[in-house]
Amino acid sequence: MAEVKLHDRVFEPFISSETISNGIKDVAHKLNEDFKGEPVLFVGVLNGAFRFISDLMKDIELECEVSFVKLASYSGTESQEIVSKLIGLNESLDGKNVIIVEDIVDTGNTLVKIMAELESHKPKSVKIATLLYKPDAYKKEIPIDYVGVKIPNDFIVGFGLDYDGLGRNLNEIYKIVD
Ligand code: IMP
Ligand code: MG
Repeated sequence: MAEVKLHDRVFEPFISSETISNGIKDVAHKLNEDFKGEPVLFVGVLNGAFRFISDLMKDIELECEVSFVKLASYSGTESQEIVSKLIGLNESLDGKNVIIVEDIVDTGNTLVKIMAELESHKPKSVKIATLLYKPDAYKKEIPIDYVGVKIPNDFIVGFGLDYDGLGRNLNEIYKIVD
């Protein structure tokens, strides 16, 4: 694998497609065990999670629904305030086992917002499945239940993750070269 250039930055190969795919299979098998006999609703967080959730579903044997949400940022009522809102949630969560499917958990700020909104819909349970997790950057209390691959605190792209819109199509994960 060669380096790639996206906008003004260079990225070097970091995680192979084989490691990614093993991480995803591992998460799928754990979910199949933990939710055996229980209906679940997977909620993929766009845009980044589209490749992870697509591959994850290939190994999920549960009775499940699949839906997608997006965090939309807009200007709040205070000047310069940016507020985010979860859009796209159309089905009832009442009494359901919800599994949030994320591309990456970094500081955890995004997750806290998504979690708060989902909890307000009174699901039976909420768990988190993320392809990538940066434990050294994570600053929240919410447990990260299912992790594909743990990574150090570097900026990465590929397999759904972007640098300013580019790189989501890459089949391996690349790390920024500083
Ligand atoms: P948070 O810091 O956990 O709230 O992560 C916020 C969002 O930033 C994630 O959902 C990703 O979309 C993005 N993000 C965090 N780390 C990276 C990275 O290394 N590469 C690309 N996007 C990232
Ligand atoms: Mg994201």
